[in-house]
Amino acid sequence: MVIDETITLRSIIALFWSINQIKNMENNIVKQLQEITKNAEAVFKNEMNDAELKEFEAQLIGKKGSISALLKQLKDLTPEEKKVVAPMVQQSRAAWAERINALKKARETEQMNRALAVEWVDVTKKPSGRRGSVHPISALQREIEELFVGMGFMIADGPHIESEWHNFDALNIPPTHPARDMQDTFWVKTGAEDTKENFVLRTHTSSVQIRAMMEHEPPLRVLAPGRVFRNEAVDATHDSAFYQIEGLVVDKGITMSHMKGMMELMLSKIFQQEITARMRPAFFPFVEPGVEMDILYTDRNGKEKWMEVVGAGMVHPNVLKNCGVDPKEHTGFAFGFGLTRLCMLKYGIADIRYLFSMNSEALGQF
Ligand code: PHE
Repeated sequence: MVIDETITLRSIIALFWSINQIKNMENNIVKQLQEITKNAEAVFKNEMNDAELKEFEAQLIGKKGSISALLKQLKDLTPEEKKVVAPMVQQSRAAWAERINALKKARETEQMNRALAVEWVDVTKKPSGRRGSVHPISALQREIEELFVGMGFMIADGPHIESEWHNFDALNIPPTHPARDMQDTFWVKTGAEDTKENFVLRTHTSSVQIRAMMEHEPPLRVLAPGRVFRNEAVDATHDSAFYQIEGLVVDKGITMSHMKGMMELMLSKIFQQEITARMRPAFFPFVEPGVEMDILYTDRNGKEKWMEVVGAGMVHPNVLKNCGVDPKEHTGFAFGFGLTRLCMLKYGIADIRYLFSMNSEALGQF
């Protein structure tokens, strides 16, 4: 009996002790919540800037926020106490989340209205000043691309900073070949033995022939327009950068008559009339035989003159081999013409510098 009494007494003491503890804890959480709410009320203002609002949100209801910390303490309460305290904490958290979100929403609306007030455009208004127009070189390039795409050509591109190998060696122009002097250019010499590791500003679009043949199996029809570079003194008809368009056809049974026909067709389309053209033999290391084609034009003084516009020829067997194409099975022709020069001829532009200076007086006419 004595023992029993002792046990009872002990357990009552223990019970009181634990109730006290829990009471304290319960009180504690409620008190803390009141304290937190009071502080938060004091800090929360509509005038808070975005950074302050973000910080406020993090401190209060963020993962490490003070109300979230209270939520974690709930697990120490008895189920009965939890029933009372948990909703208080949760409702407080939800209420704050709502207020913060409402303020954020109001901010966004306000910002949007402010932007709408100043950033509007009257699309019905006539543009002031002069409108831009497509550069004559680009316009002509597009026209020619369209013509060739209609004949089943694909448009290809290559890098301006090209490997020595693609620009010269693969085109049958070894390092000691005099043709390299005719196309003096700007070098990025790495001192490497392998010419694939030295670089030049490409001197012609013919490098894209190589890229196209290495990438695709014949039959091939490729048109490659683009910018090329030469170490030239600038005058009325020369610049250190200008535009070319390269054409390449590789298939079974391709002959020079295909080449001649295609170039004549192209030139008559560009000038929108029958043109008088002539073909002369010419040397380019990457074709055999090679030709140049001239067209007859009337200069400003009414004098008829021949003007060279395009270099062309049958793709040299060495070039085909360099690109893994068997010359016994496939033949091809290539041509390359100066887009800049054609553009000047077509529009009667006397000086190349009108095209590339920032002279809007001249370009504005197009
Ligand atoms: N690449 C030559 C040049 O720039 C032109 C050309 C292209 C000639 C294709 C023949 C075949 O002068």
